[in-house]
Amino acid sequence: MEDRKPRLLLGVTGCIAAYKSVELLRFLQKASAEVRVVMTESATEFVGPATFEALTGAPVGTGLFRSAVDPIPHIALAEWCDGFVIAPCTANVMAKLAHGIADDLLTSTALACMAPLMVAPAMNVHMYENAATQANLALLKERGLYIIEPDSGYLACGDVGPGRLPEPAELAQRVMALVQESLAGELAHAEAVQDLADAKVVITAGPTREPIDEVRYLSNYSSGKMGYSLAEAARDRGAAVTLVSGPVSLSCPEGVERVMVTTAQEMLEATMEAAQDAAIVICTAAVADYRPAQVADHKLKKGQDDEALSRLQLVENPDILKTVAQAAGSDQTVVGFAAETDSVVDYGREKLAAKGADLIVANEVGPQKGFGQDTNEVTLISAQGEQSLPSMPKRQLADVIFDAILELRG
Ligand code: C5P
Repeated sequence: MEDRKPRLLLGVTGCIAAYKSVELLRFLQKASAEVRVVMTESATEFVGPATFEALTGAPVGTGLFRSAVDPIPHIALAEWCDGFVIAPCTANVMAKLAHGIADDLLTSTALACMAPLMVAPAMNVHMYENAATQANLALLKERGLYIIEPDSGYLACGDVGPGRLPEPAELAQRVMALVQESLAGELAHAEAVQDLADAKVVITAGPTREPIDEVRYLSNYSSGKMGYSLAEAARDRGAAVTLVSGPVSLSCPEGVERVMVTTAQEMLEATMEAAQDAAIVICTAAVADYRPAQVADHKLKKGQDDEALSRLQLVENPDILKTVAQAAGSDQTVVGFAAETDSVVDYGREKLAAKGADLIVANEVGPQKGFGQDTNEVTLISAQGEQSLPSMPKRQLADVIFDAILELRG
């Protein structure tokens, strides 16, 4: 990217907090962003476009036709910006975003925008807590939009609760951090050596959930961060990536195909299917080793199902890594992880043989180590030897692991 200011598009919707957008704009400009503004018709009832036009020195659009912005304003703005922040965002606009409705300049631009989309909801507490709003919010989060949660406090309508737009200075700080992170990632992406170009990489990530009854399950604390970092690294190096993910709160990295699964059995099926034409398969998922032998078709109740509750019968789950390794051809590289609380390297070496993997990434887990952390300290174990690595961020470690895999593949 050429050396220039980050370009931010600020979307303003029809909410009393729209007056805060003026200050937000000033803070973003002070933080060295070049800002342009789009408004909904309702927003103009709260703040005049002339205010934003004077402050940005650029026309402010609301509609799609006869626009002073550009003959095709929604595409021009979507392509121009490095990030699009909608603050405040009403329940109505959130619903439109969630369902792909594009009936004005702001929502059409959002639909066309490939840059990170940041949404700061602000509304009455009951509107915010309404199941429809929460469902839309969940959908947007799942799709990878950045949601800047509202503050709790006194609202313009007199109610108290979540719904306040955060203070402009804080909002600006968060928006700038997100845009700078995204621009840095883009730069790294553009500069990454494409040494996995044309290779298909399959990665399992996160925990599995094994149902006990309709409301309970067995699982573990895996966050999925290591697997997701590997997916990003492989993508940046040019690979076609399939991420088979258990339930995690991470959003799907852009450009990665994600298959969401719940149980070990589902993860096995999705992984075997994806692995068929893969060059590299990496099993980072913390698969539950056992699952309840039977899943009760009703919620097990104390006093009624005591026998079933106190003696949960378990059966062994399939070992995905082992199954993939056994089925793998000689041109396929299979990598496993070994999380241990002690004798990490010894167990890792045993696992290399027992699972038939080409490489085992062994690490110690426990309080403050491994699960849920952003850093990891591992030893790489293969038939060729061992390499102990210092603690490093998971995204950096992901690249070191791919360097080792490529070396093994020769
Ligand atoms: O046997 P253990 O769980 O310690 O082995 C860890 C490695 O095996 C990890 O790579 C994990 O993803 C994989 N594994 C698997 N299926 C299982 C259990 C573990 O793929 N059922």
